[in-house]
Amino acid sequence: MSIARQGALWSAQAHMPTVSIDPIEIVRGEGSYIFTRDGQRLFDTTSGLWHANVGHGRRELAQTAALQMETLETYHVFGRFVNDKAIALAEQVADMAPIDDPKVFWTSGGSDSVDLACKLALRHWQIHGKPTKHVILSRDKAYHGLHGFGTSVAGLEPNRLGYGVDSIFPLTARVSNSDIESVRQTVAEIGAENIAALIAEPVMGTGGVLPPTSGYLEGLQQLCRANDILFIVDEVITGFGRTGRMFASERFGLDADMILVAKGITSGYMPLGGVIIASRVWAPYFGEGAEVFRHGLTYSGHATACAVAIRNLQIMEDEGLVERVAALEPQLAAGLNAISNTPGIVEVRTCGLLGGVQMDPQINGENVARRCIGAGVSMRVLTDNTLQICPPFITTDDELQLVMDTIADALRAELQVAA
Ligand SMILES: Cc1ncc(COP(=O)(O)O)c(C=O)c1O
Repeated sequence: MSIARQGALWSAQAHMPTVSIDPIEIVRGEGSYIFTRDGQRLFDTTSGLWHANVGHGRRELAQTAALQMETLETYHVFGRFVNDKAIALAEQVADMAPIDDPKVFWTSGGSDSVDLACKLALRHWQIHGKPTKHVILSRDKAYHGLHGFGTSVAGLEPNRLGYGVDSIFPLTARVSNSDIESVRQTVAEIGAENIAALIAEPVMGTGGVLPPTSGYLEGLQQLCRANDILFIVDEVITGFGRTGRMFASERFGLDADMILVAKGITSGYMPLGGVIIASRVWAPYFGEGAEVFRHGLTYSGHATACAVAIRNLQIMEDEGLVERVAALEPQLAAGLNAISNTPGIVEVRTCGLLGGVQMDPQINGENVARRCIGAGVSMRVLTDNTLQICPPFITTDDELQLVMDTIADALRAELQVAA
């Protein structure tokens, strides 16, 4: 066990008394592995928080950052000022994105992107003379970060509640995350004339790795189009390769009004997020009589973050990492299927290089995670007692197998002790 050292640090989503007696302090990363202060080497099963797609410790990314910082650490993109890296990355991402002729608004991360998209959706209907369209819909069990809007649209109630109101921003509502008929009913009850946007993760992450049920996302897409509801696709986890396509929107044939990105765009080497915006949303802000969108962050288009993102995307291309994810998907699916009969497993779920192992609610999931970590395989428990599998794209076949074997062993050992 590590010595309590974190002192003044208030950790995120943490029960601080537990953290202070039993922290896992990470001091180094290399490839698919992280190293604790005590010298333990752990396979990074979760890619940190779903972000370390090209793996840790890449010298070329550190060198890119150093060079950019020597040249220009950053310069803002407010008003007439822009910087070359923000322009170049926007161009590149616009070319890659599954939206025709989009614009890209940079942010500092996923929650920032959620805030921006929700604000832009509300503004959109004000500009278009539909002033009652205020409600933002989100899915049961949704996670969209923890800023004001992300907290308000959280479908994981512990993240949304506790502030004395149902949601911090008043006009939000939850819809079914699997049954499109039920979503239709909710839309009819609220009235499309009151709904600004619907936000959805193509594969729900923190909610427990929930791939969409058949036809569900396509149904959302149609429902939104038919009712003048903006469709915001949150690809903060799935963007840049995680489902075996550059964007999950391609995999599921979605035509979003806004796509949110973060995490994988830099593989976590710099904080960066963005919103990729379709022309029907950006048009009023460009050209004659344009409106000004009163939004922006000091670090929107941070030059070093953008330079690192450009290099990160180059690495992904050079090493064929999206194809690698597509190749690993069947192995992950088959491997999880093979362990699905292990006592204590309720269900296994996969999509691309994302896996969830849902355990019986009687099982102490944190104990199972501890056992995995003890065996050298990092682990995190998500909603509904689900173990998160989201390794770096450079993971080998053997490492992937090791993760699945370790989970099965940890579960057996935990059940033996509990018996
Ligand atoms: C789907 C989704 N949206 C938004 C966010 C928030 O991103 P960030 O933590 O970078 O603010 C996350 C973070 O995990 C996420 O999974």
